[in-house]
Amino acid sequence: MPDQMKPADAASSVGADEIAQAAALLDAGQLVAFPTETVYGLGGDAESPEAVARIYAAKGRPATHPVIVHLAPNGDPSYWVEQLPSDAQRLIDAFWPGPLTLILKRAAHIPAAVSGGQDSVGLRCPSHPVAQALLTAFSARRNGHGGVAAPSANRFGHVSPTTAQHVRDEFGDAIHVLDGGPSDVGIESTIIDLSRGFPALLRPGHVTPQDIADVLGEMPRLPDGSDASAPRASGTLKAHYAPRTPLALLPFDVLEPMLAARAPDERVALVARASRAGRWAQAEGVHFVAAPEDPHLYARDLYGLLRALDRANVSRILIEKLPDTIEWIAVNDRLGRAAAAFEAHET
Ligand code: TXA
Ligand code: MG
Repeated sequence: MPDQMKPADAASSVGADEIAQAAALLDAGQLVAFPTETVYGLGGDAESPEAVARIYAAKGRPATHPVIVHLAPNGDPSYWVEQLPSDAQRLIDAFWPGPLTLILKRAAHIPAAVSGGQDSVGLRCPSHPVAQALLTAFSARRNGHGGVAAPSANRFGHVSPTTAQHVRDEFGDAIHVLDGGPSDVGIESTIIDLSRGFPALLRPGHVTPQDIADVLGEMPRLPDGSDASAPRASGTLKAHYAPRTPLALLPFDVLEPMLAARAPDERVALVARASRAGRWAQAEGVHFVAAPEDPHLYARDLYGLLRALDRANVSRILIEKLPDTIEWIAVNDRLGRAAAAFEAHET
């Protein structure tokens, strides 16, 4: 697990007045972007179908895709679900607050809009102090039961934001943003589906399948693309998280001949671990970025890097494919989806 942000540092960047004002906006059905330890979220009242519709409209996202409901640290998950299975309680005890979302059967009184019409609901309690302050203030306006629906605060399909500036780059001044500094984890929460009688990983993240197995005593089912009963999830679309500049993800021995064969006047970006990059780190026309050797650090910097490379005046982004091991599963997942947006054979 990452070091959690020190509450004093991060919360001090957003004052109590600003939190109260943002909670009032949510209460009035408006949207507020806020920091979490994973990525910034675009929040609205989870029990207001109108607020949820505003989220979809702002993102340009199809209304059939579910959004995650964020709960305050003292929030009651059982308010949102038909029943809370013992596996869910064990994962909550182990990983909340933190970067883990649970998919459970939705309680009948929760509007279906928040789950894109499905009979489930996604719940998460973030650890970021600004998120917690906002969720606590909003929840207090709802007899302690308020929840904030929040997808990542980016336009549909684009790279998720990990700073307040990234959110402004996506939406301009149209959305009110709370600035809680850069997100620590850097990629979206791990999603575990517990709505179908067995634990299944829907989206890899900082909490690994092994972390889940250590608590539940069994490995979650891993996504293999063939599970037709799996819930719909936009972060699980094949092409997602994409920058605007064409991106290719290939093993280094495939990238090298591509680098050698590029046009003399072409400027390309190369992202690779310094230990592999060799002479290409210094080559003319190659904008080299030394990637972290550690998967958690790689994840933390990934989206900021993709955004920076969009501004780096390069024609292509070439990224070294990382080892096919469980520790790289989350980074490989996000890079694979970013690259899939540019693969001609994809539909
Ligand atoms: O880290 C995160 O989870 C961030 C921050 C803001 O908390 N949020 C996030 O939300 O990544 P979003 O909307 O970009 O991803 C939501 C994903 C959906 O694409 C889907 O995979 C899953 O959460 N999800 C939410 N509710 C679900 C449900 N009822 N059934 C199945 N999947 C659900
Ligand atoms: Mg997203």
